[in-house]
Amino acid sequence: MRIIRAKDYDDMSRKAANIISAQMIMKPNCVLGLATGSTPIGVYGQLVSHYQEGDLDFSGITTVNLDEYRGISRDNEQSYYYFMHDNLFSKVNIDLKRTFLPDGMEPDSAKACQDYDRVIAETGGVDLQLLGLGHNGHIGFNEPGPIFKAQTHCVKLAESTIKANRRFFASEEEVPKEAYTMGIKTIMQAKKILVVVSGADKAPILKKVIYGEIAPDVQASVLQLHGDVTVVADEAALSEI
Ligand code: F6R
Repeated sequence: MRIIRAKDYDDMSRKAANIISAQMIMKPNCVLGLATGSTPIGVYGQLVSHYQEGDLDFSGITTVNLDEYRGISRDNEQSYYYFMHDNLFSKVNIDLKRTFLPDGMEPDSAKACQDYDRVIAETGGVDLQLLGLGHNGHIGFNEPGPIFKAQTHCVKLAESTIKANRRFFASEEEVPKEAYTMGIKTIMQAKKILVVVSGADKAPILKKVIYGEIAPDVQASVLQLHGDVTVVADEAALSEI
């Protein structure tokens, strides 16, 4: 794993956006795997700035997102579809027909998962996968458990994840309890992986991810087995390393 030390959140965002920009310049028709959550918001902001300055072209890019809540429609402000449009897709010249997320409104979860695996396969595979890191070590919504799940699957979100998401919803009842997520095999098949981590609250889990045992109770620990992982983390997140 390559670890890049950033001064703070803004520096982390700029460094990670530069890595994604380099990927897009080197391969203008590349497939980007994207993440939602608080951490990558600054990265997307930087990519939008690069686009506005004329330095980036999204017209040939395909994107596949890691996950989507189950039972939430695309026009719900808390859906990951909405998030991606709000933070990136509506602000750059990307072809929306080539932006993909799991279909949160598909009630047949087996179908939703199979459909999404087919979509990912049809893109030809992810060139660069952007990941955030959950406090419990989850990537996508691959939560701690007895195994690593390979393919897209429906997950019951961990209590800690539901609590962490609570801040985005008016009440606890509205916080989704399930999500569709890419599996670990799909994430690991990305040619390159870029993990962004910020804040002292992520320091203990980041240490486990990088130096701990490779085990499914810390799902991100599997990244130690990938040949091309870059972690861009700020000083606070790296404070235990
Ligand atoms: C989001 C995702 C999650 C987040 C993780 C960290 O698509 O898959 O794994 O990356 O929960 O979230 P933040 O960045 O809000 O701390």
